[in-house]
Amino acid sequence: DWTMAAYREQAIAAIRKQVGDGKVICALSGGVDSSVAAVLIHEAIGDQLTCVFVDHGLLRKDEADEVVGMFRDHLNLPLIHANESELFLSQLEGQSDPETKRKIIGRLFIEVFEKTAREIGGADFLAQGTLYPDVIESVSFSGGPSVTIKSHHNVGGLPEKMGMKLVEPLRELFKDEVRELGRELGLPEKFIGRHPFPGPGLAIRCPGEITREKLEILREADAIYIDQIRKHGLYDEIWQAFVAILPVRTVGVMGDGRTYDYACALRAVTSVDGMTADYYPFSHEFLGETATRIINSVRGINRVTYDITSKPPGTIEWE
Ligand code: XMP
Repeated sequence: DWTMAAYREQAIAAIRKQVGDGKVICALSGGVDSSVAAVLIHEAIGDQLTCVFVDHGLLRKDEADEVVGMFRDHLNLPLIHANESELFLSQLEGQSDPETKRKIIGRLFIEVFEKTAREIGGADFLAQGTLYPDVIESVSFSGGPSVTIKSHHNVGGLPEKMGMKLVEPLRELFKDEVRELGRELGLPEKFIGRHPFPGPGLAIRCPGEITREKLEILREADAIYIDQIRKHGLYDEIWQAFVAILPVRTVGVMGDGRTYDYACALRAVTSVDGMTADYYPFSHEFLGETATRIINSVRGINRVTYDITSKPPGTIEWE
């Protein structure tokens, strides 16, 4: 596609011009956006780039290994794997307000990036895969007054606090354009087709207080749900799908015993750019089978609900 080929050349020239012979750290989440940003920047400045993947303890089941493995096997990028789960989880303990959680996570990301910068002998720039919708949604909401719906952790505020300038080569693009650019750059389809995963991770899928127990339950349930979606051949039709664990226990019965465990909500939406979304119309058979699998195999969940809220009025994530 000539448009993306032209965009690629233009973006590479702009990165070279901005960065000069400075050093860049790229925050890598394993998602499409940051992967495409990293590959593009690497093409522009080569080994002036160091990527950092922060494990904040809020990743999905086996995600750290998968992401680090994918990068090692497919992309020849210098990558630091920062395991900071203790730092994040200890600071989040006892917090249940959504914006407070997001702010704590945003602040800790900055700390980790600064630490990484020191480890590599200093860095002048922090690169992120910020997209156009991230920029808009952090400032205003279409049609309404200018209010913050959610503080996206990867937007705004960072440079002043950090002494690093931001490099955001995807800031003008929508998701479908980033995917196209990724193909243009030769990224494997399994990167390109991944559902989006938010920077704050499972924290915003665990409304109320975050505990290690709830995170563990959530990981197990989410893995089964995504497996179901893949088995039924629905992964690519869906923009994003995940489980949220609810901050409430409900009564159930199993065998001839009483259970008192968490309820969870399945979420799946279709969307073009994440700005608006419709809930995915699963068949009742699919929902029933998935609920049964989760309840039978995840200790700690005895009730499964399906979230049929579209965006607006809902948002995709629960926080
Ligand atoms: P919402 O929940 O606002 O989500 O409808 C829209 C899209 O953005 C993702 N999202 C985030 N991504 N940092 C990110 O990198 C964030 O803080 C963040 N919050 C939401 C969400 O997963 C969905 O794809």
